[in-house]
Amino acid sequence: MEKNLDFKRHRRLRTSNSMRSLVRENHLRVDDFIYPMFVIEGNKIKNEVASMPGVYQFSLDLLLDEVKTVYNLGIRAIMFFGVITAKDEIGTGAFVDDGIVQTATRMVKEAFPDLLVVADTCLCEYTSHGHCGVIHNHDVDNDESLKLLAKTAVSQAEAGADIIAPSNMMDGFVAAIRLALDEAGFQHIPIMSYAVKYASSFYGPFRDAADSAPQFGDRKTYQMDPANRLEALREAQSDIEEGADFIMVKPALSFLDIVRDVRNNVDVPVVAYNVSGEYAMVKAAAQNGWIDEKALVMEMLTSMKRAGADIILTYFAKDVAVWLKEEN
Ligand code: PBG
Ligand code: ZN
Repeated sequence: MEKNLDFKRHRRLRTSNSMRSLVRENHLRVDDFIYPMFVIEGNKIKNEVASMPGVYQFSLDLLLDEVKTVYNLGIRAIMFFGVITAKDEIGTGAFVDDGIVQTATRMVKEAFPDLLVVADTCLCEYTSHGHCGVIHNHDVDNDESLKLLAKTAVSQAEAGADIIAPSNMMDGFVAAIRLALDEAGFQHIPIMSYAVKYASSFYGPFRDAADSAPQFGDRKTYQMDPANRLEALREAQSDIEEGADFIMVKPALSFLDIVRDVRNNVDVPVVAYNVSGEYAMVKAAAQNGWIDEKALVMEMLTSMKRAGADIILTYFAKDVAVWLKEEN
């Protein structure tokens, strides 16, 4: 018998939809998503964020209706960001008992007890200068900020938050928050650390949505330099040592190598934050008819899973929940 040309037939496993499904390595599930939401002071407000079509700031009276929609799509984890007008030097609005996020959390937990509320623990939405901590000598004072962040986390846990997610990038924030939560009787509440958070231009639309842009300077003395890779491992490692239960990498799309590095180096769930700028780019291209939004979003989010993310924080969560239902 004549010898055939010798090569591998990879296409055998791509012949049909059923065959491709059979051998697919990574999947999106609605259970993997956390949906970020913006809560604003006032009444009857549903403001679309100009740079984030399809994302709204909701006042508390309209919030539950929207949360119900989210819940009915099968999403079981949401995150709140507060938008307020009366800001001060130390970000008091972040840790008062009747703060906007605390109030939203109480309302939602009462109506949907099994919907996880993830609290973003930071001060920048509440400080007059827009930085993530308190300012001394024109820079953010690390250790002074820790006290306020710990207070914020405890007030969020008291309001019923299921997971505390500190995004402030002060050194020692996990240790400080863990200690404060434990002392207040919240030993059972996990910390989802934004351990690996880069000083990124991809946050622009979020700062419009949350009114949290720094009023002077930038966040480069506390958030990471996007050029660095090994530093991500140091950040992840110290947060694990301090007691982090989840490690987040943020942004996601330009940092999938970092998601993989972190996945290979920690043994806790890894979270990728598909941030506002990543959302805005896709929406803009879609609105121009330049890309197929559904196909592109599914590809992007699946890439995050492939890179090693267990959980994805994304403004696309509602859309994807609908698309996943259509597929079944
Ligand atoms: C604030 C915070 C930011 C985001 C989440 N929490 C922005 C920032 O650091 O300025 C960004 C989220 C996004 O872009 O979607 N600590
Ligand atoms: Zn912040």
